[in-house]
Amino acid sequence: MQDLDELTVTDAALAQMANTSDPRLKQLMDAAVRHLHAFAREVNLTPAEWLQGIQFLTAVGQACTPLRQEFILLADVLGLSAVVNALHDKKARELGSQSSLLGPFYREGAPDLALGDCIVEKPTAEVITVYGQVTDNAGAPIPDALIQVWQTSERGLYDLQERNGETMDLRANFRTGPDGRYHFRTVRPLGYSIPMDGPVGAMVKAQNRHGFRPSHIHFLIGGEGFRELVTALYFGDDVNIGSDTVFGVSGSLVVQAQDDPASPIPGLRAVHYDFRLAKAAPGETGRVGADPTKLAQAAE
Ligand code: BEZ
Ligand code: FE
Repeated sequence: MQDLDELTVTDAALAQMANTSDPRLKQLMDAAVRHLHAFAREVNLTPAEWLQGIQFLTAVGQACTPLRQEFILLADVLGLSAVVNALHDKKARELGSQSSLLGPFYREGAPDLALGDCIVEKPTAEVITVYGQVTDNAGAPIPDALIQVWQTSERGLYDLQERNGETMDLRANFRTGPDGRYHFRTVRPLGYSIPMDGPVGAMVKAQNRHGFRPSHIHFLIGGEGFRELVTALYFGDDVNIGSDTVFGVSGSLVVQAQDDPASPIPGLRAVHYDFRLAKAAPGETGRVGADPTKLAQAAE
């Protein structure tokens, strides 16, 4: 019988897990154990800190509701969701538009609107047009692609925050036309603070971070035989464009609302963006994250 110490306990734990039948589960758990042990040794973790960590994770779980996924938020502010997204993009067989975070405010079942419709029930700020084309990576149009969009209002709040999830606003589903083109009207969203009233917000405050995301519009785009694209367009003139709390911004996704004679709706400033979808491997999706209401159902 070997006396275990802070180093040898790692191999002992790995040995106990060695017969895990699922090879991927074994790989994930081996690496998790090795890195967690190394973390504890590196920082010389005290029992009080270990307990504090457990209390923090317990509070994160308790803050989750069918309308709020505090664990996704934690992964987001730690940059983990962005790492997973980037790894997923790298694995693609061909190049598509860059992805970005799904975030916690996506909802399935948004209203189906016609091209050109406004996704905002009662706009109280400047209405803009968002338009462009969805193509494959060689530039061929993808007709009938499903475009799901969602965003905050001109006050910087999602419908879930302003309406308690009872009705939907500021989100819609569109289908591209035969030429792969899309356009819709909306208000320019305001940048917003991630939810700061829970344990993740308390951590972000303790780190003296501002907690804001720059103004953006989310897109989830799917076409038959294509990799689902989860992404967002970010307004370049937002003060926080260079310091997104959840690391979702990349240069290729930054846009401006501007006068645009080519826009399909004259008289409104417009954002023009063409999305490229990559061919899918069988059974593949591009989604990192989920509708929180579905996660809650899956856990029951
Ligand atoms: C969002 O863009 O909706 C979002 C993403 C990550 C954390 C919080 C909000
Ligand atoms: Fe968002």
